[in-house]
Amino acid sequence: MSIKLLALVFSALIIFTRPKLIVDTHLSTRISPFPSQSYPIPPFIPPSSPPLTSRSPAVDSLFPRVPALFVFGDSSVDCGTNNFLGTLARADRLPYGRDFDTHQPTGRFCNGRIPVDFLANRLGLPFVPSYLGQSGTIEAMFQGVNYASAGAGIILSSGSELGQRVSFAMQIEQFVDTFQQMILRIGEEASDRLVSNSVFYISIGVNDYIHFYIRNISNVQNLYTPWNFNQFLASNMRQELKTLYNVKVRRMVVMGLPPIGCAPYYLWKYRSQNGECAEEINSMIMESNFVMRYTVDQLNRELHGASIIYCDVFQSAMDILKNHQHYGFNVTTEACCGLGRYKGWLPCVSPEMACSDATGHLWWDQFHPTDAVNAILADNVWNGRHVDMCYPTNLETMLHS
Ligand SMILES: *[C@@H]1O[C@H](CO)[C@@H](O)[C@H](O)[C@H]1NC(C)=O
Ligand SMILES: *[C@@H]1O[C@H](CO)[C@@H](O)[C@H](O)[C@H]1NC(C)=O
Repeated sequence: MSIKLLALVFSALIIFTRPKLIVDTHLSTRISPFPSQSYPIPPFIPPSSPPLTSRSPAVDSLFPRVPALFVFGDSSVDCGTNNFLGTLARADRLPYGRDFDTHQPTGRFCNGRIPVDFLANRLGLPFVPSYLGQSGTIEAMFQGVNYASAGAGIILSSGSELGQRVSFAMQIEQFVDTFQQMILRIGEEASDRLVSNSVFYISIGVNDYIHFYIRNISNVQNLYTPWNFNQFLASNMRQELKTLYNVKVRRMVVMGLPPIGCAPYYLWKYRSQNGECAEEINSMIMESNFVMRYTVDQLNRELHGASIIYCDVFQSAMDILKNHQHYGFNVTTEACCGLGRYKGWLPCVSPEMACSDATGHLWWDQFHPTDAVNAILADNVWNGRHVDMCYPTNLETMLHS
């Protein structure tokens, strides 16, 4: 092991042994849309350097199928938000981004593209810029904005031990701000039309397990059974989706949670012998997905004119795991980048920790899938190419109806 690598491992160890922050969360109260966080999120950052996101080189059609794509979520879809925050959850260094179009880190937690990049392509749109990273003009937002922040959850304090992040409620507030600026620029009618025809992609909730429930923050395991915790998350999701509906959002894609019980971090932590997934975690996630799917179903009935689809990432990911040979994956348990058993012990912090070729890997790092897996997931969201995982329809069908 080189000195440099040892130093990195050491710094990673410090990251992991940092003392837990005390969090004080009252689960029974509604999450405030104006949280009393100790840092203000600036609405715009003046342009100092060119935007980190690149334009997608080839799009599916000459004309976009929808005006814009807006994204809310966690590290599964963060494309640079956390580059601007004080947090340990960041992907702004190689080897992150090494297989991306620019071969540079952007803040995406992947070797290459994230699902919303592939979907932007399908929709005939450029890659969506991050809210904090975009150039600061409202025109730049007309084709979409990505508000996702790694470490964020539905619960405000989920992920607090990692540092700053923009929680789901705060991301929605940021969108409302975008919407108001849009109205000031192009008027109410045009803004309503733009928003109601655009696609809203929501991928959040797994950190409420990883960084909150499973860690038993605030004694949550004693106070809430997994079932009650699921209900709590679903009812918060429900309120946030209604908030979006009230500002004219109609087309929403709600992503279910992935099987993190199979992620390299939990294989390492639960001392998996031969790569068996941590079933207690996966069964909680499955239950949560069940409740969320039901919630979406209810909202579709309740909200006139809304088209909300629920996409079961768990189902699709388990299909890839089971039929990995068919998809061309030959490493299903070990991450490409990390350290320790399954490369799940320490996070990916340097190029030396990464495998030379990630294309055969399901997992890029402790928690995140590779570009190749994201491509399959996006295809399934779009048209169910490999597995029909969206209910009641896939995205392409939803846009035609
Ligand atoms: C959760 O934490 C509390 C203390 O904060 C502890 O009393 C309880 O036993 C823990 N529950 C589990 C299931 O570990
Ligand atoms: C996976 O396939 C690649 C390319 O064929 C090969 O180099 C690698 O050794 C294989 N890995 C395993 C664990 O079988």
